[in-house]
Amino acid sequence: MPLAERPLQYLAVLAKNTLVYIKNFIEDRDVASVMPSSPFLVRRMVRKMDLDGSCVVVEYGPAAGVFSRSILEKMGPEGRLILIETNADFVRRLREQFGGDPRVEIFQEPAQDVTRLLEQAGHEEADYVLSGIPFSFLSEEERHTLIDATRQSLRPGGAFLVYQHRDHMSRLLPQHFDQIEEGYELLNVPPMHTYAARRIGD
Ligand SMILES: C[S@@+](CC[C@H](N)C(=O)[O-])C[C@H]1O[C@@H](n2cnc3c(N)ncnc32)[C@H](O)[C@@H]1O
Repeated sequence: MPLAERPLQYLAVLAKNTLVYIKNFIEDRDVASVMPSSPFLVRRMVRKMDLDGSCVVVEYGPAAGVFSRSILEKMGPEGRLILIETNADFVRRLREQFGGDPRVEIFQEPAQDVTRLLEQAGHEEADYVLSGIPFSFLSEEERHTLIDATRQSLRPGGAFLVYQHRDHMSRLLPQHFDQIEEGYELLNVPPMHTYAARRIGD
């Protein structure tokens, strides 16, 4: 049964994860959040993915792995999840949680290296890239470089799924992607803008 459907266990895990986020937030400004995303935001983003068969999902900035866990619950044995996280403490915790799962590859590297990391994991293209990293901390040029590298790493028809508490992606994504669907998740701290940007052509 998914963790979000077991309230007491969910609250215990939430309390523990929030303490870890606060500790890592104090030490590393790129963590950019003091608590994990809510089950409402997780559900909203994960239901945008068709996780059947041998799909390849890349996640930027998984931190404690709330999205990763939900993706793996829905993904079959042929699927692959590639986690790209810069914070060493979160990477250690991700390895403890998911290191034994043959569907998962974990890299302590920046998302900016997605093309090389995808290749290193043995894949040419991904079906989905999910991102929770703080684009507001990047310069304008760095934002465009990362969005462009992300587009290149997606197969035609694949989607870049993003959640951000500020709305700057609605200006940036149309410069790189053919089709954008926007949403807003109020039931998260803080509320989040959500985007599904689809790569249609080559
Ligand atoms: C706002 S937290 C999101 C955490 C988690 N996905 C969630 O929703 O609870 C951002 C995460 O992105 C990571 N991060 C920041 N910049 C990154 C980058 N350039 N590449 C990979 N991870 C990065 C941080 O260490 C942090 O774990």
